[in-house]
Amino acid sequence: SFEKDIEFLTANLDRYADFPKPGINFRDTFALFRNPVTYKKVIDIFTDHISKLGADVIVGLESRGFILGGAICYNLGIPFVPIRKKGKLPGKVVEFKYELEYGQDVFEIQEAAIKKGAKVVIVDDLIATGGSCMAAIELLKKVQAEVVECVVLVELTDLDWRSKVSTKTTSFIKIDS
Ligand code: PRP
Ligand code: ADE
Repeated sequence: SFEKDIEFLTANLDRYADFPKPGINFRDTFALFRNPVTYKKVIDIFTDHISKLGADVIVGLESRGFILGGAICYNLGIPFVPIRKKGKLPGKVVEFKYELEYGQDVFEIQEAAIKKGAKVVIVDDLIATGGSCMAAIELLKKVQAEVVECVVLVELTDLDWRSKVSTKTTSFIKIDS
């Protein structure tokens, strides 16, 4: 089991008070990605979990979901598809507006990137209000994909993301905001 690794990762996560706005306790997962030891542990934990889900595709959320998704797809030999902030993806896209802990944004996915009925796993570094994951789920509904699970590194346990995200969600680090 990864219990000891998860304790180690939790201890190495960075926290910045009042970023990017007063009152927000920002959890900086880049602290774990820039250290090759913790980055490898993170990717191993995600790969082990997702390998059991029978996913056809991993969808990563901009921007830290890209750093996770690419390495997991390399391990599993399955396609990586990005969901990006509005205006970054060429071709036909579908969009969904959402709110998060410190503002609002618009997510987009390329229509041609996902086949109808594809089994998708969503990955991101952190879930707070659940706005980002909910937007991703709505976009994947629009392109008629099947979201099998959301998998995030960090869950902020005291925030009510479950009222927005009813899809099965797995997190490895559980902390208060
Ligand atoms: C952060 C984080 C998640 C999202 C979680 O990303 O990486 O994607 O917020 O918050 P929520 O559960 O309240 O939606 P951010 O939108 O700051 O984007 P970035 O990675 O592009 O900086
Ligand atoms: N995204 C939304 N809330 C966040 C937080 N508290 N820390 C890091 N990323 C976040």
